[in-house]
Amino acid sequence: MPRSDVAAPITDWTEFSFDTRQVHVGEYPDQNRGARIPPLTLSAGYVFDSFDDGAARFNGDSREPIYSRQGNPTNAVAEQRLASLEGGSAAVVVSSGQAAITAALFALAESGEHIVSTASIYGGTRILLGRSFRRFGVSVDYVWDTDDDAAWDASIRPETKAIFTETIPNPRNDVVDIARIAAVARRHGIPLVVDNTVATPYLIRPFEHGADIVVHSTTKFLSGHGAGVSGAVIDGGTFDWAASSRRYPLLTDSLRRGLPSLLERFGPAAYAQYVREAVVNDIGPSLSPFNGFLLHQGIETLSLRMERHVDNAIAIAHWLEEQPEVEVVDYAGLESSPLHDIAQHYYNGRTGSVFAVTVKGGSDGARAFTNGLRIFSRMTGIGDTRSMVLHPLTTTHVCFADDLNARLGITAGMLRLSVGIESVDDLISDLRGGLDRVAGIL
Ligand SMILES: Cc1ncc(COP(=O)(O)O)c(C=O)c1O
Repeated sequence: MPRSDVAAPITDWTEFSFDTRQVHVGEYPDQNRGARIPPLTLSAGYVFDSFDDGAARFNGDSREPIYSRQGNPTNAVAEQRLASLEGGSAAVVVSSGQAAITAALFALAESGEHIVSTASIYGGTRILLGRSFRRFGVSVDYVWDTDDDAAWDASIRPETKAIFTETIPNPRNDVVDIARIAAVARRHGIPLVVDNTVATPYLIRPFEHGADIVVHSTTKFLSGHGAGVSGAVIDGGTFDWAASSRRYPLLTDSLRRGLPSLLERFGPAAYAQYVREAVVNDIGPSLSPFNGFLLHQGIETLSLRMERHVDNAIAIAHWLEEQPEVEVVDYAGLESSPLHDIAQHYYNGRTGSVFAVTVKGGSDGARAFTNGLRIFSRMTGIGDTRSMVLHPLTTTHVCFADDLNARLGITAGMLRLSVGIESVDDLISDLRGGLDRVAGIL
């Protein structure tokens, strides 16, 4: 029995600050023992109260869970927290960042249709679009100069159903002017899908700059620990599906005999519901609740970690720029970067902690540098608490043609760094050890 002299628990965190919401949104009291942490619900399915309750859950009259392929109470904590931090209407967590991008775009484009993306994106996404989406009959065109409105207009066709970009592209930190791309999308009546993995909602919230859908590899900074793979699709809730010059019948028309459309039933969360109910439920890239639990635990400390990540990254980017063994540092927040103005405008110069450094000596230099590091882990991955280093040309970008890599700026001497939250002095002395090896071969 709740006591009348005890303040009622907060259930609506909307008006609270980012730091408070990252800790609390989505939590629910454990009815049995009062456990403080939202419990890990390891159950594939959920008991219907009655015959009629089963029907109510299936026809959408009840929001109680049905089966963990479409939704799970542990994952719901992460979903509500992510929707709140990004400022969206609803979120759906999935099994990886790749699954999030696939689900987000698969919900928009079908065979014979088309997607336009900025050219500088994570290598795995480029492979996904060029290989699997192509096999589904969805074609992709890339815009290389994101400030060139004529290039955008020329690439968009009547069958273009989505525009895709990354806020802080992996690996080159070549930040985009998100509002400018959103204006292109708006002009053509097409939703803008933004991968906000590297920035996280702590550094930028793309919906505030006109994006319609946000995707994440929550494997990275949002989790922070690197202990599990996960992803998320977040609906901004503002795209006008019915008024668009394109048709999105899966949202605007009835999906099932006798039921109104998702737009009529779910309003601003209709797209998220389509991703959950149709794409994820049909194809099955659902998130294990164990990884969902790890994710919402990680989100609780996001802002603290991001502050340290970025402080370390800025100090290291400045330091690297001064070293004689370094050719160039691609960090948009640096005064020397051609993207400095965009970095200032959107990020106050704090463009995350994933960026590229090119050492002298080409691939021999890159090898010497990488092998000389002791704190930085040699691995694929970004956004853990620990620092990591990777040579894109021989790993994430190895399957691309030489001329494509050259155009993307992926060169033999280039390394991707993901700067962690260790002591910056220790990280700099580790990097010095790597550069000493580069000096040894020059
Ligand atoms: C920007 C970006 N998006 C998506 C992904 C894919 O995420 P996941 O590895 O969780 O599938 C990655 C992975 O590195 C990434 O860096």
